[in-house]
Amino acid sequence: MLSIEVDSLSKIYTIKEISAAIYDNIHQPLIWLYLKLVEKTRGKEKVVYALDNVSFHARRGEILAVLGPNGSGKTTLLRILAGLALPTSGRARVEGLDVVEDNARLGDVVMYAPGLITVDLFAESNFTIRDNLLKYAKLIGAGKDRVDEVIALSGLQEYQDRLLYEVSTGIIGRLAFAYGILKEARVYLMDEPFTGISFEARKALMDIVRNVLAGKLRATVLIATHVLRDAEELSHRYIFLRKGRLVAQGDLPSLKERLKLKEKVEIEASLDPELLTQIALDAGAENYRVREGETGYILEFSVQKAGHILPQILASIYGRGGKVSTVKVSEPSLEEVYMELFKEEWEAPAAEGGDICSLVIS
Ligand SMILES: Nc1ncnc2c1ncn2[C@@H]1O[C@H](COP(=O)(O)OP(=O)(O)OP(=O)(O)O)[C@@H](O)[C@H]1O
Ligand SMILES: [Mg+2]
Repeated sequence: MLSIEVDSLSKIYTIKEISAAIYDNIHQPLIWLYLKLVEKTRGKEKVVYALDNVSFHARRGEILAVLGPNGSGKTTLLRILAGLALPTSGRARVEGLDVVEDNARLGDVVMYAPGLITVDLFAESNFTIRDNLLKYAKLIGAGKDRVDEVIALSGLQEYQDRLLYEVSTGIIGRLAFAYGILKEARVYLMDEPFTGISFEARKALMDIVRNVLAGKLRATVLIATHVLRDAEELSHRYIFLRKGRLVAQGDLPSLKERLKLKEKVEIEASLDPELLTQIALDAGAENYRVREGETGYILEFSVQKAGHILPQILASIYGRGGKVSTVKVSEPSLEEVYMELFKEEWEAPAAEGGDICSLVIS
């Protein structure tokens, strides 16, 4: 069974745009009256497709990154899968539960973590970590042995007797995962979970996501993030949203292939720079240039598959009496995939017109 099935999912919001000048004075009674009037007369409505016909699926044990610029629909998607917002049309199922029909039961299978991972809902700051978990275990009818198991899985052994207010944000993050594991969540939905925590704590949480949640427990993890490095380090697959539409999905190799992204090659050799240039030209290398290196000259170029022309280039260098000291091949990164997919956003001119603010109607 697929863990997450999303089929032609859309979420439409109707908003009214008002000028920023009015928005700034929203506290004044006359402005309030004006806004009420605007709402009543339903003047200039604007429809926002927060999600527009989105379809994808995820298998158990998969980590999927949900990527896209601000306002592209990432949070809306996670909130619908968590049962906190309803779709306008289309269908989504999480562990077989329909997000509309079985909405009330979604909380049993999903752990939703908006923003920095927190445990506000259940945790007491003057309780120890262990007592907090025991209290939650009692609430959901889980045994004490499960608490020990969960403490071990989330790496909390050495912190279990510490009061919650004494521990760092990274440890609170682990506790949040412990709650999820305790209630046997099958799907973890995380919205920018790793902001505001130290490098070490982030690494530790990522290890838990990879090795425990997705690995050992074979839960499904969706992470909405702007931090492409985190996404690349963790995810098996990616989905990319732009203005509510799913513009691409897949793993890194298939995305690179589809977008025809090139690999970058650097060869340092003891050979005349003109000869190096000629060799690159003969081999059909693109965007080549030669610069001075530490032990000779460095030939740089990009090519679809480095393996296809490297042997010829190296043989030519040796054939002309040169010696190669280093060869470096860099694969296109997730960042390059993202830049390629969203290049229109970079290239688009700044929006025209005065400042606009939005008044949400539905
Ligand atoms: N409750 C709401 N009412 C009206 N419009 C909304 C609401 N929630 C989101 N939107 C709009 O839906 C679109 C998608 O928003 P969403 O928050 O899902 O984007 P996002 O990808 O999470 O953005 P970010 O990267 O800034 O977190 C945006 O245009 C947003 O303004
Ligand atoms: Mg968001």
